[in-house]
Amino acid sequence: MCGIVGYLGKRQAAPVLIEGLYQLEYRGYDSVGIAVFDGKKLRVVKKTGLVREIETARQAVGRVGIGHTRWATHGDVTVENAHPHTYGNIALVHNGIVENAAKLREECEERGEAFYSDTDSEVIAHLIAAEYHGDLLEAVIRACGKIVGSYAVAVFCEDEPERLVCARMRSPLIVGRAKEGLVVASDIPAAAEEGAVLYSLEDGEFASLSGDEIFICNAAKSKIKKEPIEFSEEGRADLGAYRHFMRKEIDEIPVVLRDSREEIARNFCFSDFCKVLCQTEYIQIVACGTAYHSGLCFQAALERVCRVPADVFIASEYRYMDPIVRKGTLLIAISQSGETADTLAAVRLAKRRGAHIAAVVNVKYSSLARLADTVLFTQAGREVAVAATKSFNAQLMVLYLIVAAMASIKGKRSPTLKGFESKAARAIAAGEAVQSWVPYFAGAKSAYFIGRGEDMCVALEGSLKLKEISYLPSEGYAAGELKHGTLALIEPYTPVVAVLMRRDIAEKTMNAVHEAYSRGASVFLVTCFEEYCGGKEITASVLLPKCPPVFSPILSVIPLQLLAYYTSLARGNDPDKPRNLAKSVTVE
Ligand code: M6R
Repeated sequence: MCGIVGYLGKRQAAPVLIEGLYQLEYRGYDSVGIAVFDGKKLRVVKKTGLVREIETARQAVGRVGIGHTRWATHGDVTVENAHPHTYGNIALVHNGIVENAAKLREECEERGEAFYSDTDSEVIAHLIAAEYHGDLLEAVIRACGKIVGSYAVAVFCEDEPERLVCARMRSPLIVGRAKEGLVVASDIPAAAEEGAVLYSLEDGEFASLSGDEIFICNAAKSKIKKEPIEFSEEGRADLGAYRHFMRKEIDEIPVVLRDSREEIARNFCFSDFCKVLCQTEYIQIVACGTAYHSGLCFQAALERVCRVPADVFIASEYRYMDPIVRKGTLLIAISQSGETADTLAAVRLAKRRGAHIAAVVNVKYSSLARLADTVLFTQAGREVAVAATKSFNAQLMVLYLIVAAMASIKGKRSPTLKGFESKAARAIAAGEAVQSWVPYFAGAKSAYFIGRGEDMCVALEGSLKLKEISYLPSEGYAAGELKHGTLALIEPYTPVVAVLMRRDIAEKTMNAVHEAYSRGASVFLVTCFEEYCGGKEITASVLLPKCPPVFSPILSVIPLQLLAYYTSLARGNDPDKPRNLAKSVTVE
C-alpha cells in the first residue's frame, strides 16, 4: 500500500506534497514524511501518524520534493521506517514490496553500507546510489533491474536537483503536468487540479521529470508516447457537512445505485457480455473482503434466478490452490479499487491459463480495468472511508443487472431492480434506528450475525464491517450452523443480529433466533417482515421496505453498515481510518 507524491516546479513544493498526501491517506496512514530540497540541502521531515502530523513542514522552502504516507509491511511503525529514505545523494519514496530485500541488503552490508531502518524500501536507495554515475534515470533503471517484487518509486538526487525520476512495477503511478510544475502520485486525486494533464505509467515503465519535460520510457530508454488520462477534480475527497466519510458514503448509496444502473444501460458491450456468460462453460468469481461478499451474493442470485452455477474464490487463496481453469472459463474479478494485489495476481494467473477476464470495478484507470478483457464499471464515485459501503451496494447493482439480463436471455423470469434507489433511501432512514442498539454492542465481548442464503452473505459483510472499524470480535454465520459449534460462545447479553429477508426460510432462521435467545443472547433483527419484529425474543429490529429477496442484500446490508459506524464511534474509534488497515491493499 502506501501513497507516494512528488513535485518539481515554480511553486513551493511542501504544501503541494502535503495536500497530495491528504488525498492519498486512504492508502495508509501509520506514518508520513516529505523531503524538500532548499537549493543547498535536502530537508527531511518524518513522523508517525497521520498526514496532519507534518503540517508544520508546510513552511519548508524549496521547489522540488517527494512525500509518502505509509502502511507498514517491513518494519514497525517508527520514524526511522517512515519514508523518504535517503542514502548518499539519493532520496526515495516507495510503494510496494521488495521480495529479495534481505539478499540485496546483505550485499550492501558486505560493501560496508549502513542501514537506518528495517524497511525493504531503504535497500532501493542503496541500489540506486551504487548505480549512480551522473545519470539518475540510468541508475534507477539499473537498480530496478535487480528488484524482485512490486514498486512505484519517486527518486531525487542531490547531484541533479532539477529532476525527479520514477518507476512502476505492479504498484500504480501517474505523472503529469499540473499548475506551474510537474507531479508524480500514486493516484489521480493527489494530482488532479484544473488544467492538469496526467499520464498513467504501466509496469516496467520509467519517467524522468525535469524543467517542463516529462520523458517516459522503457528499460531500454526507448521513448513511450502516452495519451493523457481523463479525470475529474470531483474525485478529490470532500467531507462537506459530514463528520466522517463513511457516514457520507452510506448516504450516497441511492445515488450510486442509480448511477451504476445508468452506466450499465450506456455500456454497449453489456448485452453481448451477458450472452457470452450464458454460454460460458465455467464461471469463476474472485475478490477480496467486501468485494468477495458481493461475489457470494452474485453467485447466490446467478444460481437461483438463472440456474447457472459459479464458483467464488477468495483471491488470495485462488492463486495458491492451483485452480482448475477449464477451456471456456470466464473469470469475473470484483474490486472497488482495481488495485488489490491478491485480486490482480488471481486475474493474471487465470489469464495465463486461458480464461477470459471480466472486471466489475469502480476505479477507471485501475490496473484491473486495464488487465480485463471486458470491463463493467460501478459508479460508486470515490470511496474514501477504509470500510467499503457504497461500493458494495454499487457492485451488487451491477452484478444483479447481469443476473437479470442473463435471465431474460435464457427466457427465465427475473425479479426487477426498479425502485431500489428509493428503497435504499428508506433503508438508510430506517437503519438510523440501530443507534439504539449500540449500547448492547459497544461494551460486548463479541457479536454474531446470522442468516440463510443471501441473508448469510449479508451477515458475513455485517460482521466484517463491525470488526474492521469497531475492533469488536464478530462472526458472520449460516443460521443453521450455529448449533454445530458457535452456539457455545453465546452468553447472556451476547448481541446476535439476524438478517431475515426471505419468507420461505424465515421460520428456519427464527429457529436459530430462538436457540440464541434461549441461551441469553440479545437478538436484533433486520427484516422486511413486520410480523417477526414484535416477538419477546427480539430486543430491537429495523423494518426495511419489501423487495425481491434474491436482490435484498442491496438493502439489508445498510443497517449493518450503520451499526458498524455508530458502534465504532461509541468505542472512540475513527471509523474512516481503522487501525492497521488501508483502503487499497496493493501488497500480497
Ligand atoms: O478495492 P477492493 O474492492 O479490491 O478491496 C478489497 C478489500 O480489501 C476491501 O473490500 C476491504 O475488505 C474493505 N476494507 C472492507 O470494508
